[in-house]
Amino acid sequence: MSAPAPALAPDLVAGLRRLKLSRMRSIAPEICQTAKVQRWAPDELLRTLIEAELAARDDSNYRNRLKAAGFPLAKSLDQFKVQASSIPQPTFDYLASLEWIRAPENLCLVGPAGTGKSHLLVALGHAAVAAGHRVRYFAGADLIEALYRGLADNSVGRLIDGLLRCDLVICDELGFAPLDSTGTQLLFRFVAAAYERRSLAIASHFPFDQWGTFIPEQTTATSLLDRLLHHAVVVVTEGESFRMREARARGGRRSARA
Ligand SMILES: Nc1ncnc2c1ncn2[C@@H]1O[C@H](COP(=O)(O)OP(=O)(O)OP(=O)(O)O)[C@@H](O)[C@H]1O
Ligand SMILES: [Mg+2]
Repeated sequence: MSAPAPALAPDLVAGLRRLKLSRMRSIAPEICQTAKVQRWAPDELLRTLIEAELAARDDSNYRNRLKAAGFPLAKSLDQFKVQASSIPQPTFDYLASLEWIRAPENLCLVGPAGTGKSHLLVALGHAAVAAGHRVRYFAGADLIEALYRGLADNSVGRLIDGLLRCDLVICDELGFAPLDSTGTQLLFRFVAAAYERRSLAIASHFPFDQWGTFIPEQTTATSLLDRLLHHAVVVVTEGESFRMREARARGGRRSARA
C-alpha cells in the first residue's frame, strides 16, 4: 500500500482557497505525489491540475444552469423517435443543432395533445443547457402569472430583463387558459422585448389562425404573432397522441398475458 500523500503547505492551501480553486486544492496532494513518483514534466503537473479545476467548474455551472432552467421533467433528444413523429428529419436535425438559438430564431410548435411538443421543448432545453446556454422553462400559465406578480409590485421591467438574460425562454402549453386584456398586454410586452434579441420556444394546441381563442384582442394577437413568426422555425405536430398509443400497447400486452 502506498503512503498517504503529504498535505499541501499551509500557504498553498490558503492561496488556493483565496483563488477559489477548490478542486485543485482537494486533489493537489495526491497529484503532486504522483507527479513526483512518476517524474512528470512540470507542465504536465500544471495541465492535470488546471484540467481538473476546469472540469469541476464546467460540471458545477451545468448543474446550476439546469436547476435555474426549471424543467418540469427530464426528456432527451435521444428518446425522441423522429420517425414516429410528424416532424421531418431535417427539421429535427436543425433544431438539435441549436443553431436557431445562436441565430437567434424562435421555435413555434403547434399540434394536438400527446404529439411530442413538450418532449421536444424540454429535450431541446436540456441540450441547450448542456451546450452552455442559459434557459428558462415556463408553462404558459406560470409565465403569465409571474408577469402579473411583477405588475403588482412594479417589477415587470426587471422581470423581463432578467428573463432576457437567458439565451432561450420556453413557454409551453400557451393557450390552455384564455388571457384577459392585462395578460395579453403582458405577454405582448414580453414577446416584443425578446424580438430579435433572444430565442423563444413556444408550444400551443392552437394553429395561429385560432390564437384569437385565447387572445381576446385581435390587433394584439396579430402584432404578437408578427414578431414571434418573423424569424421562426414553425413545426406542426400531427397524428395520434403518443399517450393513447402507449396506453393501447400496454392494454395489448396485458390482454396477451391474460
Ligand atoms: N416522437 C416521440 N418519441 C418518443 N416519445 C414521444 C414522442 N412524442 C411524444 N412522446 C411521448 O409521449 C408523451 C406525450 O408527449 P408530450 O407531453 O410531449 O405531448 P404534448 O404534445 O406536449 O401534449 P399536450 O399538448 O397534451 O401537452 C410523453 O411521454 C412523450 O415523451
Ligand atoms: Mg405538452
